[in-house]
Parts: sequence; structure tokens; C-alpha cells
Amino acid sequence: VSDKQAEAEFGDMQALLRFANGHLKESLFVLLTIADAEQARRWLRQLPVDSASDATGPPLQVVQVAFTAAGLRKLGLEDTILAGFSDEFLAGMAGDKNRSRRLGDTGANSPGNWYWGGPEAGEPHLLVMLYGEPGSQASRWQVLQDAAFEQGLAIQQELLTVAQSDKEPFGFADGISQPQVDWSGEAPTGLHQRDTYSNALAPGEVALGYRNEYGLYTARPLLDAGNQAAQCLPLDEQQSGLRDLGRNGSYLVYRQLAQDVSAFWRYLDAAADKDPERRASLAAAMVGRQMDGTPLVEANDRNDFSFDEDPAGQGCPVGAHIRRANPRTGDFPPGVTGLFTRLLRILGFNRRYPHEDLIASSRFHRILRRGRVYGESQPLTPEQAIGDDAASDDRGLSFICLGANISRQFEFVQNAWCMSSKFGGLEVDSDPLLGNRATLPDGRASDLFHIPSRNGPAHCLRQLPQFVRVRGGAYFFMPGLKALSFIARDT
Ligand code: HEM
Repeated sequence: VSDKQAEAEFGDMQALLRFANGHLKESLFVLLTIADAEQARRWLRQLPVDSASDATGPPLQVVQVAFTAAGLRKLGLEDTILAGFSDEFLAGMAGDKNRSRRLGDTGANSPGNWYWGGPEAGEPHLLVMLYGEPGSQASRWQVLQDAAFEQGLAIQQELLTVAQSDKEPFGFADGISQPQVDWSGEAPTGLHQRDTYSNALAPGEVALGYRNEYGLYTARPLLDAGNQAAQCLPLDEQQSGLRDLGRNGSYLVYRQLAQDVSAFWRYLDAAADKDPERRASLAAAMVGRQMDGTPLVEANDRNDFSFDEDPAGQGCPVGAHIRRANPRTGDFPPGVTGLFTRLLRILGFNRRYPHEDLIASSRFHRILRRGRVYGESQPLTPEQAIGDDAASDDRGLSFICLGANISRQFEFVQNAWCMSSKFGGLEVDSDPLLGNRATLPDGRASDLFHIPSRNGPAHCLRQLPQFVRVRGGAYFFMPGLKALSFIARDT
């Protein structure tokens, strides 16, 4: 195996892996099912899918495509090839009850209530994502629906959004923290070189076929070099001589998350005794940032900080959404130098705080967020949301994240860090934004939120309502362009 990571092949990657396309304010996400595989493949062959190459500058519009396992099967991908994808992708987001429980998809969130992706509406086969200038994409989508489309595909759901700001529907600045993908493969992945939190991430954490944070390659379908149809695929970088169907592709997690903006601000208004300043500070504690994105701990800039100097959460509560979703730990708890001290800390001795070693190193659990708001995209102000005539329309996040390993990245973050009541020394809280407030095995409801204080006992918010409900979801594979031409080939 060569030591040097080959150059990233942006020309073979879909654009979304490299760019969020934030300058393209309109997005149209279309979930489709396949009626006729041959016609669907024909349609896909001429779909103008954009690459991550930046040779011609920022694009004016972008088309991307991703498939569920059911979709790949329907298109005719052989079972032996499909078996090379990860188990969770093959099982699907709503594939079994245990997975649903782990993801918090129970009660109001359960797949039985979903608009799409659950047992009622069924799993979509593919997702087409269009991005462009406001007002442009509905007509573009019409143009793309040719005769092959009419015969081969059926629309399950369309979500059109014009983002009027960079705020999510509760009104907080979003899209601030993203891992910095080290496409040239220069950052070290060795344990002892990563004591402190770093935002750099090995390419193999987001793209298949590249080296990940373990210095290894995530499992993916590799095809026999003798397979004539597979000649269009890139060779495996590990030099096994096999053709790599995963290379330059990624898994894409899509969850439609409805946000009850009125419930959120009304709850906080009551908890703050109608004091707007106090209300804003409680809301900021829940998110872990002020509404304008300012972090609650000392920071060099909006995304250059860690929680090392705030172990008890007196600046940013341990259970705040951004601290759960990315605790920003290095491979060792803070203040660890010397091999012997490291060993003691790894074994759980010598801790400064009881929960210190319970949070896993964050670099193995990063996700690349690519979500968009849906519904009325101008966020309600807190005053509007509290008012009697607050709009009650369906709004929320088309939460999308990319990663090379759904279970180690999205599922871990969602389950162990966000939904779990046991996190960082907390026992009955769960994510203040995402929590489904389910009853715990001991009968307690996971509806608390602790806000530690510098000068007294922690303040505790109780009986948090459920603010976010899952309306749909599925796991997709977003192939590289060569892999797409293999999947859509004329057989
Ligand atoms: C409707 C649901 C959600 C809302 C309203 C929401 C809101 C936010 C906000 C306001 C931020 C801070 C802005 C930023 O750092 O970019 C943030 C960050 C983040 N969220 Fe969410 N989020 C939601 C769902 C999720 C889900 C489902 C996950 C993953 C399981 C997630 C993972 C993250 C991560 C990883 C960060 C960045 C943390 C960091 O690196 O500091 N979020 N979210």
C-alpha cells in the first residue's frame, strides 16, 4: 500500500461532497420511485449531474442524485455487489425496530407516522437534488422530466425551498461548524498526534475509497477487474487490482425534521417569566450558541474553540445541542501529557471530573451537514412565534448529512450523543432541540435540561415539550460519476 494519499478526484465526485452550494438559495429535493428500471437507467444516463470540480467557478445551478439500497436493487445492481455496502445502508433508516429505537424514532417520531420512508408511504428509490437561483428550479425540474422519466419514474414527494437567510426555523444562525476535509491527506491520523481537538478530517471520513481517520479504507463494493461492465470504474486506491464502486461516493442521510417554532418559543417565554433577555439566554443555552452564532465559550472565531476550559458546562451546558453533536474532544481529555498520564486517563483514573472520559474522541464521529430549511423559509421572530396568530405551517429542516460510515457517524451522533439520556454525566436530559422526551426504563421522562451555573446549583428546565418531529427519512448512496454511469448503464 502506498503511503501517499492520491489526489482527490473532484471531477468524479458529486459537487455536494465538496461544496454546500450556499450561494444557490433555492433547492428542490425530489423523492422518486422506479416503475421501469430500463427507462429509469436511460433517464439517469442523460441527467446532467454536476461534479465537485471547480474549474469553471461557482455554478449557477446544480443537480445531484443519490439512491437507496432498494433503488439500486430495483435498477438491477446484483446482490453480490450490493452486499459490499454497509449493513445499515442495506437495512435502511426505518428497517428495523431496534434501529428506530436507537435513533429516537419512537412515539410521535415513529416511521408509521412518516410522510415518506416509513411503512405507509414506502422507501423512496432515489433522491434528486436541484439547486439554483430563486424561482428557477421548478421549471428546470419540468424540463428534466422527459419521456424516459414519464415511463420510468414516479414522484413520491417534492420539497421546494427558497432560503431567505442562513438561519434555521427557530431563528439561529446555522451552517457554521463543518469539518475541514483534508483533501490533500496531509493531517496525521496517528493517535499520539491528535491530542487536541482539530477540525481537520481525513477524506475517507466523507468519501469512500479514501483513507479514513483510522488510516484505513471503509468497506465498500469492490468488483472483479475481469468484469467487463466495470471497466468504467476507478481502480481501488489500495492497489488490490479491484474496481471501486464506492470511490468518490458517500452515504447521504436525509431526515425531514418538522420544527414546532411556536412551542419552542412559548415554552422558553414561560420559563423566562416573559423576560425577552432571559428567554434568549435560555434558548442560547439549549443550542450552545447565541442566535447570531456566537459560541458560549471563549473562541478565537465562530468555529475555533473547544470545551476543554469549560469541563462542567458553566459556559456552554454539557447537554447543549452543539456540545452533544460535537463535544470537540481530542483523543485524550485536556491537560494530558506524557505516556504514563495518558495511560492512566485511558484507564479511567486521574480524572478531573467524573464524566471526563465518557465522551469518545470526536474525530471519528464527524458529519458533513448539507441540510436546507423547508417550508416558509423566513424564520419567525420569537415575538411572532409566541403571538396568538403565529403561523402554524409545516416548517423545519431537510436535514442532510454525508459520511463514509452511517453507523459510526450519523447514527452514533444521533443515538449516543443526542438522544441518549446518559451523556457527559447527565442522566435524564436528552438533546434539548431533538429529544423525543421518551420515558426511560426507570419511569422518568427524558424531558429535563440542566444549565450549570458558575455561582450556585445548576438551573433545571423541566417538562420540555417535543420541539422536533421526524416526518420522513432514508439512507442513500451518492455515487461518484463513474459509479453512476455503471449503475445506469445500458444492459
Ligand atoms: C431540526 C433539527 C435541528 C436543528 C434546529 C438544529 C440546529 C442547529 C444549530 C442552530 C446549530 C449551530 C450552528 C452550527 O454550528 O453550524 C447546529 C449545529 C450542529 N448540529 Fe444541529 N440541528 C438539528 C438537527 C441535527 C441533527 C439531527 C444532527 C445530527 C444527528 C445535528 C448535528 C449537528 C452538528 C454536528 C452541529 C455542529 C456542531 C459543532 O461542530 O459545533 N443537528 N444545529
